[in-house]
Amino acid sequence: MSAEIPHANPIRGRFNSWLLAKYEDDLHEEMGPRKAEHIGSLAGTVIEIGAGNGVNFRYYPPGVRVVAYEPNPYMHDRLRASARTHGLEVELRTASAERLDFEDGAVDAAVCTLVLCSVPDPVRMISEVRRVLKPGGRFFFIEHVAAERGTFLRRMQDVLLGPWRYVFEGCHTNRETGTLLEEAGFSRVEIDRFTSETMPPVVVPQIVGVATK
Ligand SMILES: C[S@@+](CC[C@H](N)C(=O)[O-])C[C@H]1O[C@@H](n2cnc3c(N)ncnc32)[C@H](O)[C@@H]1O
Repeated sequence: MSAEIPHANPIRGRFNSWLLAKYEDDLHEEMGPRKAEHIGSLAGTVIEIGAGNGVNFRYYPPGVRVVAYEPNPYMHDRLRASARTHGLEVELRTASAERLDFEDGAVDAAVCTLVLCSVPDPVRMISEVRRVLKPGGRFFFIEHVAAERGTFLRRMQDVLLGPWRYVFEGCHTNRETGTLLEEAGFSRVEIDRFTSETMPPVVVPQIVGVATK
């Protein structure tokens, strides 16, 4: 386990895996159609970053090669169980997403949901995803993001950042992830904004989209 990954605490790691499992059905209801549309159309070698409990495995079409990066060992049992349940052969890698062990242009597509809030260096992770994608390769994401500056919600996100980040193992309430993606050098970035009806109030501003290399 790399020393730069702060989220391998045995208590919080297990708690977060349990919590994600508890809300899995709600997240499927809210985000399932968008995930099915994008993940369901992927082919070839796909990397999923921060796969967690394997919540997205049900959406992959047959024949796709899925390489899942998940550095938190307390997620691994549920992740493997999800792969079995959905009949998906998943190669699990424990490396941090800031250093992907693929050659340049070796990957057809990338997926991450609710991850860029938590990685220690999101700029580096996005740059790594862009590096390993082949030209024209797609990076599908769903992320909770910072509310507009000056709003009450943004002030709450700023105030709650410290305790939230501690409990949820590095998760930032107020990252401007959409801007990071737009400034990362992809040839095209499509982003839709929506308000989650299932997540806690402080993280309801969300984005869903695709960045194409
Ligand atoms: C909130 S969970 C989301 C899990 C899953 N993607 C989902 O939608 O339920 C965030 C995940 O990102 C992972 N993560 C955090 N930092 C990471 C990093 N540097 N590299 C890869 N995964 C990371 C965590 O271990 C955790 O599983």
